[in-house]
Formats: sequence, C-alpha cells, structure tokens
Amino acid sequence: MALSKGDKVAVLTSGGDAPGMNAALRAVARVGAELELDMVGIEDGYAGLIAGRVVPLSIRKLDEASRRGGTFLGTARSKEFATPDGQKKARETIAREGIRGLVVIGGNGSLTGAHTLCDAETKGGPLLVAGIPASIDNDLACTSMSIGVDTAMNTIVEACDRIFDTAAAHHRTFIVEVMGRECGYLAMTAGIAAGADAVLVREVGKTDDEIVEHVVSTMRRAYSAPTEVGDTTKKRVLVIKAEGVHIDSARLKELVDTRIKQELPGTDTRVTVLGHVVRGGTPTAFDRLLGARLGNAALRALADGRTDVMAGWVGPGVPGPPTPYDPYVVLTPLEQVLAETAKLMSGESPLAMWRKKIFQEVERILQR
Ligand code: F6P
Repeated sequence: MALSKGDKVAVLTSGGDAPGMNAALRAVARVGAELELDMVGIEDGYAGLIAGRVVPLSIRKLDEASRRGGTFLGTARSKEFATPDGQKKARETIAREGIRGLVVIGGNGSLTGAHTLCDAETKGGPLLVAGIPASIDNDLACTSMSIGVDTAMNTIVEACDRIFDTAAAHHRTFIVEVMGRECGYLAMTAGIAAGADAVLVREVGKTDDEIVEHVVSTMRRAYSAPTEVGDTTKKRVLVIKAEGVHIDSARLKELVDTRIKQELPGTDTRVTVLGHVVRGGTPTAFDRLLGARLGNAALRALADGRTDVMAGWVGPGVPGPPTPYDPYVVLTPLEQVLAETAKLMSGESPLAMWRKKIFQEVERILQR
C-alpha cells in the first residue's frame, strides 16, 4: 500500500562507509520532504535501530555533509542484529517509533538485513523497505555501480600516480594492495586507469607460485627493456594487488625478492597497503549524483508502496525495466539481489564469468 502524507520513513547507513552515502541521505531527506513524509534518521545502522537511536534529519546539515565522505548518521557492523534478540529489538523500535518505511544504504550484509525486516509489523501493514547499494567493493549484483566505487577508484589512481613518481626515481617495484574484499573489480578498474604494469585479482584463480611468477616476469620485462638514452621512466614496476588475493603482500614481496636475487640483483621492491585511505575522502561528482539518483528513486518507489527492493544503476547484467522515476535506475527484489550477488562472488553468474574473462584478457594485454 502506498505511503500517505505524514507517514514516518527512517533511513540508515550500515556496514563499511562509502563516499556518496551522504549525498544519498540528502536526496532521501529532500525527496521525503517534497512528498510530505515524516523523515527521520537512525544512527549507526542496525546497532542504532536496536538501541532506538532515532534522530531528526536536517536537510541543511545534510547539504553540508553531502560534500564529504563517511556517513553523517554513522554506521556499524552489528553482530547483535543477526541474533533473534537483536531482530526482536529492532522490530520493537520500528513499532514503538511508528516507522512505516525504511531505507537502508549499504552493501551485501546491510541489504540482507533489510530483507529480513520486510515482515516487521507496523500500524499500516508490513514495513516497506528499500535498499540502496553503497560499497567501494562493487561486489553487489543488480547494479552496475555501487555508491563509493568511483571515488575509491579515483583515490587509488591518485595514490598510484604518486607512487609511480618515487618508483621511477629509484627504479623500484611497488606492490600496492587495495581494498575490495573478495572482489577484484576496484583493483582491476583502478589498475587500468592508473596504468599499472600488472593487476592481481582473486577471480583469475592463480596459485601463489603463479602469482610470484607473474610479478617476476613483469619485472623482468620492465628492467630488461631497452630505453632511450636518458629515459629511465620505464625501469620501474607498479603491481596492484586486490585484497581478495589471499597471499599476504609482505609474503609476496619476500617470495619475489628470493626469485630476483640472482636474476635482477640490486632491484628493490616495496609494499604499500592503501587500506582505509581508499574508503575515505571527498566523493566525486559521479558518486554524489549516483547517491542522489538512487536515493530519489528508492524513496519514490517506497512512497508508491514498493517494498523489499533495491534501486540499482543500469548497465551490463542489470535486468529489469527502468523506473518511472529515473531511466537509469531499476528496481530489483532484494531476494534476487542477494542470490545474484552470491553467484557473482562464487563465480557462477554470467556477469562473474564475463568479469573473469575480461580480467584474464587485461592481464595478458598488460604484459605487452
Ligand atoms: O566492504 C568495504 C570494505 O572496505 C572492504 O573493502 C574491506 O575488506 C572491509 O570493508 C574492511 O572493513 P573494516 O573497515 O570493518 O575493517
């Protein structure tokens, strides 16, 4: 059933923060005001829902926040929410506060939580729930981009540009580890954009020995290539390693060092783990707009009585007709999003297979 004027709708951000979450919050708050809904925020994700930390949403403050990374409402990875007691408390908050609709902004775990709340009782019937994909990992199916990916990609590229300078100056090899959990998308796309010499991702399925060989052969090529007199810029290597590649970066350096001792004596290697640097920072214009457009469509869908859905960005592998609210946004049932995401991560979906094929191709092309 569609929402009526004055109905209370809550929004929360959950899981790892992603730049652009604030832009999504701002859009949800502003569109909610336009639809004359009673908009509130919940602090620190599901932990705040359990504790009943419901706060007013200030459009003015969100206007300011939308230019910044992180999340204005705070976020958490709540273990308690996965327990029957946590679920019960969350449902009690929803009933006590008279919440009729809920918008959840987050990644896979957060949207799993959203799906479980779809049968929460409210005075007007079951709770209406809409999800918005936000995670720098881009590991969610049914959206071609999640909020935060573009900013994280730009941050990695900027960091690599800096590392290239010092790598070239010392003729060194750098292994740069980037976040992304089990998903190599961020590493691969950033690697292409940055001009990395090699990108290591889990999906390609290399053994540790093959990974070491890949780095060593990349170095061999770079250091033995003829260069013009005075041009030393090619005598350096930058390898991006996705977090999902399970060999530890320090261990990889050790194994590579052992291999090159004879063959490339005097060649220095270094490791840089970019870590949480990749997750923070000013959101790009694309991430702000993506947040705004997904926020707009998700809230309008909720107001029209749609529930248990995620608003996703169109693109390859994203089926479904566009929404009437935005031709670039599709709504997919959360159950389908979660099932497709599991298949994306286990390598079974067409998108997963396409990514693997492309990753392998790019790996070869970078070896030229
Ligand atoms: O899911 C986002 C992400 O940044 C992953 O890339 C990373 O593996 C994880 O979160 C880190 O989580 P935490 O900030 O809890 O250490």
